[in-house]
Amino acid sequence: MASSKRSEWNNNVAFVMAMIGSAIGLGNICRFPNVLYSNGGGSFMIPYIVSLFLLGISFVLVEYAVGYRFKSSLSKSLYTVKSKLEPVAWFISFIVFLITTYYICVVAWDLIYVFLSFTKAWGSNPDLFFSNNVLQASDSLSGIFTIVPWVFISVLSIWLVSWFIVQRDLNEGIGKVSQILLPILCLIVVVIVVFSLSLPGASIGYTQIFTPDWSALANLNVWLAAFGQIIFSLSLGMSIALTYASYLPEGAKLTDNALIVAFSNSGFEVFNSIGIFSILGFMTLSTGIPFNELVTEGTGLAFVVFPKVFNIMGPWATVIAPLFFLCILFAGITSVMALLEVVSYSISEKFDFSRRKSATIVCISGFCISCLFTTSSGSMLLGIFDGFLNNFALLFGVLLECIIFGWIYKFDNLIDTLNEYSTIKMGKLWKTVIKYILPFCIFGLWAQGVYSTLL
Ligand code: PFF
Repeated sequence: MASSKRSEWNNNVAFVMAMIGSAIGLGNICRFPNVLYSNGGGSFMIPYIVSLFLLGISFVLVEYAVGYRFKSSLSKSLYTVKSKLEPVAWFISFIVFLITTYYICVVAWDLIYVFLSFTKAWGSNPDLFFSNNVLQASDSLSGIFTIVPWVFISVLSIWLVSWFIVQRDLNEGIGKVSQILLPILCLIVVVIVVFSLSLPGASIGYTQIFTPDWSALANLNVWLAAFGQIIFSLSLGMSIALTYASYLPEGAKLTDNALIVAFSNSGFEVFNSIGIFSILGFMTLSTGIPFNELVTEGTGLAFVVFPKVFNIMGPWATVIAPLFFLCILFAGITSVMALLEVVSYSISEKFDFSRRKSATIVCISGFCISCLFTTSSGSMLLGIFDGFLNNFALLFGVLLECIIFGWIYKFDNLIDTLNEYSTIKMGKLWKTVIKYILPFCIFGLWAQGVYSTLL
Protein backbone atom coordinates (compact mmCIF):
# COMPACT_ATOMS: atom_id res chain seq x y z
CA MET A 1 0.00 0.00 0.00
CA ALA A 2 0.96 3.64 -0.47
CA SER A 3 4.10 4.67 1.26
CA SER A 4 3.55 8.33 0.32
CA LYS A 5 1.93 10.59 2.91
CA ARG A 6 -1.89 10.48 2.86
CA SER A 7 -3.71 13.62 1.79
CA GLU A 8 -5.71 15.48 4.41
CA TRP A 9 -8.15 18.40 4.17
CA ASN A 10 -6.67 21.63 5.53
CA ASN A 11 -9.91 22.37 7.33
CA ASN A 12 -13.53 21.33 7.63
CA VAL A 13 -14.69 24.05 5.22
CA ALA A 14 -12.60 22.54 2.42
CA PHE A 15 -14.26 19.16 3.02
CA VAL A 16 -17.79 20.56 3.21
CA MET A 17 -17.35 22.68 0.09
CA ALA A 18 -15.90 19.75 -1.87
CA MET A 19 -18.79 17.55 -0.71
CA ILE A 20 -21.41 20.13 -1.69
CA GLY A 21 -19.63 20.58 -5.02
CA SER A 22 -19.75 16.84 -5.65
CA ALA A 23 -23.47 16.72 -4.89
CA ILE A 24 -24.57 19.79 -6.83
CA GLY A 25 -24.39 18.84 -10.47
CA LEU A 26 -26.38 18.23 -13.61
CA GLY A 27 -28.90 16.30 -11.52
CA ASN A 28 -29.84 19.40 -9.54
CA ILE A 29 -30.19 21.72 -12.50
CA CYS A 30 -31.43 19.52 -15.33
CA ARG A 31 -33.02 16.49 -13.66
CA PHE A 32 -34.79 17.79 -10.57
CA PRO A 33 -37.31 20.22 -12.17
CA ASN A 34 -38.76 17.48 -14.34
CA VAL A 35 -38.94 14.97 -11.48
CA LEU A 36 -40.62 17.57 -9.27
CA TYR A 37 -43.15 18.58 -11.91
CA SER A 38 -44.11 15.06 -13.00
CA ASN A 39 -44.57 13.81 -9.47
CA GLY A 40 -47.14 16.10 -7.95
CA GLY A 41 -45.43 19.52 -7.90
CA GLY A 42 -45.57 20.98 -4.38
CA SER A 43 -46.70 17.75 -2.72
CA PHE A 44 -43.57 16.03 -4.05
CA MET A 45 -41.66 17.86 -1.35
CA ILE A 46 -43.11 15.49 1.26
CA PRO A 47 -41.68 12.22 -0.15
CA TYR A 48 -38.58 14.19 -1.11
CA ILE A 49 -37.91 15.38 2.43
CA VAL A 50 -38.75 11.96 3.89
CA SER A 51 -36.31 10.32 1.44
CA LEU A 52 -33.68 12.92 2.20
CA PHE A 53 -33.74 12.30 5.95
CA LEU A 54 -34.59 8.66 6.15
CA LEU A 55 -32.54 7.34 3.26
CA GLY A 56 -30.21 9.98 1.84
CA ILE A 57 -28.64 11.32 5.00
CA SER A 58 -28.59 7.87 6.60
CA PHE A 59 -26.60 6.47 3.73
CA VAL A 60 -24.22 9.42 3.48
CA LEU A 61 -23.49 8.89 7.17
CA VAL A 62 -22.45 5.29 6.51
CA GLU A 63 -19.94 6.45 3.91
CA TYR A 64 -18.66 9.22 6.20
CA ALA A 65 -18.20 6.83 9.09
CA VAL A 66 -16.47 4.20 6.95
CA GLY A 67 -14.17 6.72 5.24
CA TYR A 68 -13.32 8.43 8.49
CA ARG A 69 -12.75 5.17 10.37
CA PHE A 70 -10.73 3.28 7.75
CA LYS A 71 -8.89 6.34 6.37
CA SER A 72 -8.65 4.64 3.01
CA SER A 73 -10.31 4.18 -0.37
CA LEU A 74 -13.35 1.98 -0.95
CA SER A 75 -11.21 -0.92 -2.15
CA LYS A 76 -8.92 -0.92 0.85
CA SER A 77 -11.86 -0.40 3.22
CA LEU A 78 -13.70 -3.42 1.82
CA TYR A 79 -10.48 -5.40 1.85
CA THR A 80 -10.15 -4.60 5.56
CA VAL A 81 -13.74 -5.69 6.22
CA LYS A 82 -13.16 -8.99 4.37
CA SER A 83 -10.42 -9.55 1.81
CA LYS A 84 -12.84 -11.36 -0.53
CA LEU A 85 -14.88 -8.15 -0.83
CA GLU A 86 -12.17 -6.20 -2.61
CA PRO A 87 -13.41 -7.12 -6.13
CA VAL A 88 -16.80 -5.61 -5.19
CA ALA A 89 -15.05 -2.29 -4.59
CA TRP A 90 -13.29 -2.49 -7.93
CA PHE A 91 -16.60 -3.21 -9.59
CA ILE A 92 -18.13 -0.10 -8.02
CA SER A 93 -15.04 1.93 -8.98
CA PHE A 94 -15.40 0.71 -12.55
CA ILE A 95 -19.03 1.84 -12.60
CA VAL A 96 -17.95 5.25 -11.27
CA PHE A 97 -15.33 5.39 -14.00
CA LEU A 98 -17.92 4.63 -16.71
CA ILE A 99 -20.29 7.23 -15.28
CA THR A 100 -17.49 9.80 -15.43
CA THR A 101 -16.78 9.08 -19.09
CA TYR A 102 -20.32 9.96 -20.09
CA TYR A 103 -21.07 12.62 -17.44
CA ILE A 104 -18.06 14.57 -18.71
CA CYS A 105 -19.53 14.56 -22.22
CA VAL A 106 -22.71 16.28 -21.06
CA VAL A 107 -20.54 18.88 -19.33
CA ALA A 108 -18.63 19.20 -22.63
CA TRP A 109 -21.90 19.74 -24.56
CA ASP A 110 -22.62 22.46 -22.06
CA LEU A 111 -19.24 24.07 -22.69
CA ILE A 112 -20.16 24.36 -26.38
CA TYR A 113 -23.43 26.04 -25.34
CA VAL A 114 -21.53 28.51 -23.15
CA PHE A 115 -19.75 29.76 -26.27
CA LEU A 116 -22.83 29.64 -28.46
CA SER A 117 -24.89 31.49 -25.87
CA PHE A 118 -23.10 34.84 -26.26
CA THR A 119 -24.49 35.23 -29.76
CA LYS A 120 -27.29 32.67 -29.58
CA ALA A 121 -25.42 30.87 -32.32
CA TRP A 122 -27.58 27.78 -31.94
CA GLY A 123 -30.01 29.33 -34.40
CA SER A 124 -33.77 29.03 -34.47
CA ASN A 125 -33.83 25.26 -33.97
CA PRO A 126 -31.39 24.67 -31.13
CA ASP A 127 -31.24 20.91 -30.89
CA LEU A 128 -27.64 20.47 -31.89
CA PHE A 129 -27.09 17.06 -30.42
CA PHE A 130 -30.49 15.59 -30.97
CA SER A 131 -31.18 16.09 -34.67
CA ASN A 132 -27.64 15.96 -36.05
CA ASN A 133 -27.34 19.68 -36.62
CA VAL A 134 -23.74 19.45 -35.52
CA LEU A 135 -23.18 17.07 -38.36
CA GLN A 136 -24.95 19.27 -40.83
CA ALA A 137 -22.63 22.07 -39.85
CA SER A 138 -19.76 19.98 -41.18
CA ASP A 139 -21.50 18.13 -43.97
CA SER A 140 -18.58 16.03 -45.08
CA LEU A 141 -19.10 13.81 -42.05
CA SER A 142 -20.86 10.49 -42.34
CA GLY A 143 -21.01 7.15 -40.53
CA ILE A 144 -22.20 6.41 -37.04
CA PHE A 145 -18.77 6.50 -35.39
CA THR A 146 -17.45 9.57 -37.16
CA ILE A 147 -15.87 11.98 -34.69
CA VAL A 148 -17.64 15.32 -34.50
CA PRO A 149 -14.82 17.92 -34.22
CA TRP A 150 -16.33 20.50 -31.86
CA VAL A 151 -17.68 17.91 -29.49
CA PHE A 152 -14.33 16.16 -29.52
CA ILE A 153 -12.43 19.35 -28.72
CA SER A 154 -14.83 20.24 -25.97
CA VAL A 155 -14.63 16.78 -24.38
CA LEU A 156 -10.85 16.90 -24.56
CA SER A 157 -10.83 20.32 -22.88
CA ILE A 158 -12.99 19.17 -19.98
CA TRP A 159 -10.83 16.09 -19.49
CA LEU A 160 -7.69 18.24 -19.48
CA VAL A 161 -9.12 20.69 -16.95
CA SER A 162 -10.35 17.85 -14.72
CA TRP A 163 -7.00 16.10 -14.92
CA PHE A 164 -5.20 19.30 -14.03
CA ILE A 165 -7.34 19.74 -10.91
CA VAL A 166 -7.33 16.15 -9.69
CA GLN A 167 -3.61 15.46 -10.15
CA ARG A 168 -2.72 18.41 -7.90
CA ASP A 169 -2.43 18.27 -4.15
CA LEU A 170 -5.87 17.68 -2.57
CA ASN A 171 -6.20 21.13 -1.03
CA GLU A 172 -4.57 22.98 -3.91
CA GLY A 173 -6.67 21.19 -6.50
CA ILE A 174 -10.13 19.91 -5.50
CA GLY A 175 -10.20 21.96 -2.27
CA LYS A 176 -9.37 25.28 -3.85
CA VAL A 177 -11.47 24.83 -7.00
CA SER A 178 -14.55 23.92 -4.92
CA GLN A 179 -14.09 26.97 -2.74
CA ILE A 180 -13.86 29.21 -5.79
CA LEU A 181 -16.53 27.70 -8.02
CA LEU A 182 -19.21 27.03 -5.43
CA PRO A 183 -19.73 30.65 -4.31
CA ILE A 184 -19.72 31.78 -7.97
CA LEU A 185 -22.27 29.09 -8.76
CA CYS A 186 -24.56 30.22 -5.93
CA LEU A 187 -24.25 33.84 -6.99
CA ILE A 188 -25.19 32.98 -10.57
CA VAL A 189 -28.22 31.03 -9.43
CA VAL A 190 -29.38 33.93 -7.26
CA VAL A 191 -29.05 36.31 -10.24
CA ILE A 192 -30.96 33.93 -12.52
CA VAL A 193 -33.75 33.34 -9.99
CA VAL A 194 -34.19 37.03 -9.18
CA PHE A 195 -34.22 37.90 -12.87
CA SER A 196 -36.61 35.08 -13.78
CA LEU A 197 -39.10 36.19 -11.13
CA SER A 198 -39.31 39.57 -12.87
CA LEU A 199 -40.32 38.01 -16.18
CA PRO A 200 -43.93 38.25 -17.36
CA GLY A 201 -45.61 34.87 -16.85
CA ALA A 202 -43.15 33.79 -14.12
CA SER A 203 -46.05 32.99 -11.80
CA ILE A 204 -47.41 30.45 -14.30
CA GLY A 205 -44.22 28.54 -13.61
CA TYR A 206 -43.32 28.95 -9.99
CA THR A 207 -46.84 28.37 -8.70
CA GLN A 208 -46.46 24.79 -10.00
CA ILE A 209 -43.86 24.19 -7.28
CA PHE A 210 -46.14 25.52 -4.59
CA THR A 211 -49.37 23.96 -5.89
CA PRO A 212 -49.60 20.50 -4.42
CA ASP A 213 -51.39 17.58 -6.01
CA TRP A 214 -52.11 15.65 -2.83
CA SER A 215 -53.43 12.60 -4.68
CA ALA A 216 -49.85 12.04 -5.94
CA LEU A 217 -48.87 11.04 -2.41
CA ALA A 218 -50.92 7.87 -2.73
CA ASN A 219 -48.87 6.88 -5.74
CA LEU A 220 -45.97 4.58 -4.90
CA ASN A 221 -44.10 5.70 -8.02
CA VAL A 222 -43.94 9.24 -6.65
CA TRP A 223 -42.19 7.98 -3.51
CA LEU A 224 -39.80 5.94 -5.60
CA ALA A 225 -39.09 8.98 -7.80
CA ALA A 226 -38.23 10.99 -4.70
CA PHE A 227 -35.92 8.27 -3.53
CA GLY A 228 -34.32 8.03 -6.99
CA GLN A 229 -33.72 11.79 -7.08
CA ILE A 230 -32.07 11.77 -3.66
CA ILE A 231 -29.76 8.94 -4.73
CA PHE A 232 -28.76 10.77 -7.90
CA SER A 233 -28.48 14.20 -6.42
CA LEU A 234 -26.43 13.20 -3.39
CA SER A 235 -24.37 10.86 -5.64
CA LEU A 236 -25.04 7.97 -3.28
CA GLY A 237 -23.36 4.60 -3.73
CA MET A 238 -20.42 6.03 -5.69
CA SER A 239 -18.22 6.17 -2.56
CA ILE A 240 -17.55 9.87 -3.11
CA ALA A 241 -18.52 10.66 0.48
CA LEU A 242 -16.39 7.75 1.70
CA THR A 243 -13.35 8.96 -0.24
CA TYR A 244 -13.66 12.60 0.80
CA ALA A 245 -14.35 11.68 4.44
CA SER A 246 -11.23 9.53 4.52
CA TYR A 247 -9.19 12.74 4.14
CA LEU A 248 -10.74 14.34 7.23
CA PRO A 249 -8.43 15.16 10.11
CA GLU A 250 -9.18 13.89 13.61
CA GLY A 251 -12.10 15.52 15.43
CA ALA A 252 -14.58 15.92 12.56
CA LYS A 253 -18.26 16.35 13.34
CA LEU A 254 -19.55 13.87 10.79
CA THR A 255 -23.30 14.13 11.36
CA ASP A 256 -23.21 17.92 11.43
CA ASN A 257 -21.29 17.94 8.16
CA ALA A 258 -23.70 15.51 6.52
CA LEU A 259 -26.67 17.72 7.42
CA ILE A 260 -24.99 20.84 6.05
CA VAL A 261 -24.14 19.09 2.78
CA ALA A 262 -27.58 17.51 2.35
CA PHE A 263 -29.48 20.74 3.11
CA SER A 264 -27.25 22.81 0.85
CA ASN A 265 -27.69 20.37 -2.00
CA SER A 266 -31.47 20.17 -1.66
CA GLY A 267 -31.79 23.89 -0.97
CA PHE A 268 -29.88 24.55 -4.16
CA GLU A 269 -32.07 22.35 -6.33
CA VAL A 270 -35.35 23.62 -4.93
CA PHE A 271 -34.27 27.26 -5.16
CA ASN A 272 -32.86 26.79 -8.65
CA SER A 273 -36.07 25.19 -9.89
CA ILE A 274 -37.98 28.34 -8.90
CA GLY A 275 -35.87 30.08 -11.57
CA ILE A 276 -36.25 27.29 -14.12
CA PHE A 277 -40.04 27.13 -13.68
CA SER A 278 -40.42 30.91 -13.83
CA ILE A 279 -38.49 31.05 -17.09
CA LEU A 280 -40.66 28.26 -18.50
CA GLY A 281 -43.74 30.16 -17.32
CA PHE A 282 -42.51 33.14 -19.32
CA MET A 283 -42.14 30.88 -22.36
CA THR A 284 -45.69 29.60 -21.97
CA LEU A 285 -47.08 33.12 -21.75
CA SER A 286 -45.03 34.34 -24.71
CA THR A 287 -45.56 31.46 -27.11
CA GLY A 288 -48.71 29.70 -25.93
CA ILE A 289 -46.83 26.39 -25.69
CA PRO A 290 -48.44 24.48 -22.79
CA PHE A 291 -46.27 24.44 -19.66
CA ASN A 292 -46.26 20.65 -19.42
CA GLU A 293 -44.72 20.38 -22.89
CA LEU A 294 -41.80 22.54 -21.82
CA VAL A 295 -40.78 20.65 -18.70
CA THR A 296 -38.84 17.93 -20.47
CA GLU A 297 -36.27 15.61 -18.97
CA GLY A 298 -32.62 16.49 -18.31
CA THR A 299 -30.56 17.32 -21.36
CA GLY A 300 -33.59 18.22 -23.47
CA LEU A 301 -34.57 20.89 -20.97
CA ALA A 302 -31.13 22.48 -20.86
CA PHE A 303 -30.03 22.12 -24.47
CA VAL A 304 -33.27 22.35 -26.45
CA VAL A 305 -35.96 24.14 -24.43
CA PHE A 306 -33.77 26.75 -22.76
CA PRO A 307 -32.02 27.95 -25.93
CA LYS A 308 -35.51 28.41 -27.43
CA VAL A 309 -36.49 30.51 -24.44
CA PHE A 310 -33.34 32.61 -24.76
CA ASN A 311 -34.19 33.17 -28.43
CA ILE A 312 -37.32 35.07 -27.45
CA MET A 313 -36.08 36.66 -24.23
CA GLY A 314 -34.80 39.88 -25.75
CA PRO A 315 -31.58 41.72 -24.84
CA TRP A 316 -31.31 40.22 -21.35
CA ALA A 317 -30.66 36.83 -22.91
CA THR A 318 -27.13 37.97 -23.75
CA VAL A 319 -26.41 37.99 -20.03
CA ILE A 320 -28.71 35.30 -18.67
CA ALA A 321 -27.97 32.63 -21.30
CA PRO A 322 -24.19 32.52 -20.69
CA LEU A 323 -24.81 32.59 -16.93
CA PHE A 324 -27.22 29.67 -17.19
CA PHE A 325 -24.78 27.50 -19.14
CA LEU A 326 -21.85 28.56 -16.94
CA CYS A 327 -23.87 27.46 -13.95
CA ILE A 328 -24.24 23.96 -15.43
CA LEU A 329 -20.54 23.96 -16.35
CA PHE A 330 -19.31 24.81 -12.85
CA ALA A 331 -21.75 22.42 -11.19
CA GLY A 332 -20.64 19.68 -13.60
CA ILE A 333 -16.91 20.21 -13.10
CA THR A 334 -17.08 20.01 -9.31
CA SER A 335 -18.97 16.72 -9.63
CA VAL A 336 -16.54 15.33 -12.20
CA MET A 337 -13.61 16.07 -9.85
CA ALA A 338 -15.24 13.97 -7.16
CA LEU A 339 -15.96 11.05 -9.48
CA LEU A 340 -12.38 11.08 -10.74
CA GLU A 341 -10.94 11.30 -7.25
CA VAL A 342 -12.77 8.10 -6.24
CA VAL A 343 -11.21 6.07 -9.04
CA SER A 344 -7.84 7.75 -8.95
CA TYR A 345 -7.46 7.34 -5.17
CA SER A 346 -8.31 3.63 -5.32
CA ILE A 347 -5.64 3.11 -7.96
CA SER A 348 -2.97 5.19 -6.26
CA GLU A 349 -3.53 3.43 -2.95
CA LYS A 350 -3.56 -0.04 -4.45
CA PHE A 351 -0.48 0.32 -6.62
CA ASP A 352 1.34 2.93 -4.56
CA PHE A 353 1.19 5.43 -7.42
CA SER A 354 1.47 9.19 -6.96
CA ARG A 355 -1.68 11.32 -7.31
CA ARG A 356 -0.40 12.55 -10.64
CA LYS A 357 0.34 9.11 -12.03
CA SER A 358 -3.00 7.55 -11.14
CA ALA A 359 -4.98 10.63 -12.24
CA THR A 360 -3.14 10.52 -15.56
CA ILE A 361 -3.92 6.84 -16.09
CA VAL A 362 -7.59 7.35 -15.24
CA CYS A 363 -7.94 10.46 -17.40
CA ILE A 364 -6.24 9.04 -20.48
CA SER A 365 -8.26 5.82 -20.40
CA GLY A 366 -11.46 7.72 -19.57
CA PHE A 367 -10.90 10.10 -22.43
CA CYS A 368 -10.55 7.19 -24.85
CA ILE A 369 -13.99 5.90 -23.81
CA SER A 370 -15.47 9.41 -23.90
CA CYS A 371 -14.41 9.63 -27.54
CA LEU A 372 -17.23 7.20 -28.33
CA PHE A 373 -19.68 9.88 -27.21
CA THR A 374 -18.10 12.44 -29.48
CA THR A 375 -19.20 10.50 -32.52
CA SER A 376 -22.32 11.07 -34.53
CA SER A 377 -24.13 8.40 -32.48
CA GLY A 378 -22.87 9.94 -29.24
CA SER A 379 -26.20 11.17 -27.91
CA MET A 380 -27.80 7.77 -28.56
CA LEU A 381 -24.99 5.96 -26.74
CA LEU A 382 -25.24 8.46 -23.94
CA GLY A 383 -28.94 7.67 -23.53
CA ILE A 384 -28.05 3.99 -23.09
CA PHE A 385 -25.40 4.78 -20.47
CA ASP A 386 -27.78 7.09 -18.67
CA GLY A 387 -30.49 4.41 -18.49
CA PHE A 388 -27.94 1.97 -17.11
CA LEU A 389 -26.78 4.51 -14.55
CA ASN A 390 -30.25 5.45 -13.32
CA ASN A 391 -31.87 2.05 -13.29
CA PHE A 392 -29.02 -0.12 -12.24
CA ALA A 393 -25.57 1.24 -11.38
CA LEU A 394 -26.38 3.78 -8.68
CA LEU A 395 -28.83 1.48 -6.93
CA PHE A 396 -26.40 -1.39 -7.07
CA GLY A 397 -23.66 0.62 -5.38
CA VAL A 398 -26.01 1.68 -2.58
CA LEU A 399 -27.34 -1.84 -2.09
CA LEU A 400 -23.89 -3.43 -1.95
CA GLU A 401 -22.66 -0.94 0.61
CA CYS A 402 -25.81 -1.44 2.74
CA ILE A 403 -25.28 -5.20 2.72
CA ILE A 404 -21.57 -5.01 3.44
CA PHE A 405 -21.67 -2.40 6.19
CA GLY A 406 -25.13 -3.24 7.56
CA TRP A 407 -24.83 -7.01 7.60
CA ILE A 408 -21.24 -8.17 7.23
CA TYR A 409 -19.38 -5.45 9.14
CA LYS A 410 -20.05 -4.74 12.80
CA PHE A 411 -22.34 -1.74 12.40
CA ASP A 412 -21.97 -0.65 16.02
CA ASN A 413 -18.38 0.35 15.21
CA LEU A 414 -19.75 2.85 12.73
CA ILE A 415 -22.16 4.22 15.32
CA ASP A 416 -19.22 4.78 17.67
CA THR A 417 -17.14 6.47 14.97
CA LEU A 418 -19.98 8.74 13.96
CA ASN A 419 -20.92 9.76 17.45
CA GLU A 420 -17.38 10.40 18.64
CA TYR A 421 -17.34 14.13 17.91
CA SER A 422 -20.73 14.83 16.26
CA THR A 423 -23.22 17.13 17.96
CA ILE A 424 -26.14 15.04 16.72
CA LYS A 425 -25.83 11.40 17.73
CA MET A 426 -27.17 8.42 15.80
CA GLY A 427 -28.43 5.14 17.19
CA LYS A 428 -30.44 2.00 16.53
CA LEU A 429 -32.89 3.59 14.09
CA TRP A 430 -30.00 4.37 11.79
CA LYS A 431 -28.92 0.74 11.88
CA THR A 432 -32.46 -0.42 11.04
CA VAL A 433 -32.64 1.94 8.06
CA ILE A 434 -29.37 0.68 6.60
CA LYS A 435 -30.04 -2.99 7.27
CA TYR A 436 -33.66 -3.23 6.22
CA ILE A 437 -35.39 -0.11 4.94
CA LEU A 438 -32.87 1.10 2.36
CA PRO A 439 -32.35 -2.32 0.70
CA PHE A 440 -36.14 -2.75 0.62
CA CYS A 441 -36.53 0.60 -1.18
CA ILE A 442 -33.84 -0.34 -3.68
CA PHE A 443 -35.68 -3.51 -4.57
CA GLY A 444 -38.81 -1.37 -4.95
CA LEU A 445 -37.01 0.86 -7.45
CA TRP A 446 -35.70 -2.12 -9.37
CA ALA A 447 -39.14 -3.73 -9.48
CA GLN A 448 -40.59 -0.48 -10.74
CA GLY A 449 -37.85 -0.25 -13.42
CA VAL A 450 -38.51 -3.81 -14.61
CA TYR A 451 -42.29 -3.29 -14.53
CA SER A 452 -42.17 -0.07 -16.55
CA THR A 453 -39.74 -1.60 -19.07
CA LEU A 454 -41.94 -4.64 -19.61
CA LEU A 455 -45.17 -2.67 -19.99
N1 PFF B 1 -24.76 14.48 -7.78
C1 PFF B 1 -24.27 15.04 -9.00
C2 PFF B 1 -25.45 15.41 -9.88
O1 PFF B 1 -26.54 15.49 -9.36
O2 PFF B 1 -25.28 15.64 -11.04
C3 PFF B 1 -23.27 14.21 -9.71
C4 PFF B 1 -23.52 12.76 -9.89
C5 PFF B 1 -22.50 11.94 -9.69
C6 PFF B 1 -24.72 12.24 -10.23
C7 PFF B 1 -22.66 10.59 -9.83
C8 PFF B 1 -24.88 10.88 -10.41
C9 PFF B 1 -23.84 10.09 -10.20
F1 PFF B 1 -23.97 8.81 -10.34
